[in-house]
Amino acid sequence: MSQITLHHDKLFNDLIKRISSEYKVDFSGYKSDFILNRIEDRLQAHNITNFSDYLKIVENDDLEYRALAGLLTIHVTRFFRNSYTFDLFKNEYAPEIAGKGGPIRIWSAGCSTGEEPYTMGIIFTELFRERGVSLPYKIFATDIDPAAIENAKAGIFSRSALIEARLEIVDRYFELINGMYHLIPDIRPLVSFSLHDVASPVNPAPSDSVYGDFDVALCRNVLIYFNDNLQALALHSIHKSLKKGGIVILGQSEAMPPDFEKKFTAENERLRIYRKR
Ligand SMILES: C[S@@+](CC[C@H](N)C(=O)[O-])C[C@H]1O[C@@H](n2cnc3c(N)ncnc32)[C@H](O)[C@@H]1O
Repeated sequence: MSQITLHHDKLFNDLIKRISSEYKVDFSGYKSDFILNRIEDRLQAHNITNFSDYLKIVENDDLEYRALAGLLTIHVTRFFRNSYTFDLFKNEYAPEIAGKGGPIRIWSAGCSTGEEPYTMGIIFTELFRERGVSLPYKIFATDIDPAAIENAKAGIFSRSALIEARLEIVDRYFELINGMYHLIPDIRPLVSFSLHDVASPVNPAPSDSVYGDFDVALCRNVLIYFNDNLQALALHSIHKSLKKGGIVILGQSEAMPPDFEKKFTAENERLRIYRKR
């Protein structure tokens, strides 16, 4: 292990500022442990133990800078990730939301390469197909990483993105072309992708949604990277953007901070499903 000390090192702070300004997000609010672990990974990749040596490399080598920025904006995801959450959502919450009439509005905050918002598109398409009804529904999907958003828009996935999806879903919604799974054209237009910082103090809702008013917000496996302050900013934005009674779903290793108990009730603590009061 190298002896990295953060926050006192001007070079390090400059580096974080540079990445923050490029990605238009304040990485200074990210948990130090998270950033430290990512930097440790890069030190190991270079077989060095000295943080100052690493800073020199990253300063002069754009490829290394990209590698580090890529690690900070890590975007692991898959369709129906933690599938029991989506099973419960489809059986309980989607019918409840549809029962109120449309249009249904969903936000996937920190959508990475699109698997999560497309999963929501598939869920509502399936629900309406099974019940023989139809309501307008739109999914707003946002991330701070432009490369992730571009990949998401393409709608082409590897087999590993579908390990939690049922075979009938894969058959119905994907076309296998040269070893890659292409989402069918019906689903892609349901999702509107844009760049947006979920912890932005100025824009609570993605601008293409205009005013939020969401029935559901998913913010899964994003808060884990944030310190308390940034988590609070993100949750305030989500609260503001949801309809009264709207549902928020967090990631499996995330929990609603106690300060937010007045704003959200726990619907299913184990599956991290909460409702706006
Ligand atoms: C691990 S992925 C989660 C993807 C998906 N939500 C899921 O659970 O499968 C985390 C995503 O959050 C994005 N992210 C990190 N900080 C963000 C921020 N401040 N605003 C929006 N997205 C952010 C990253 O770029 C990455 O794509």
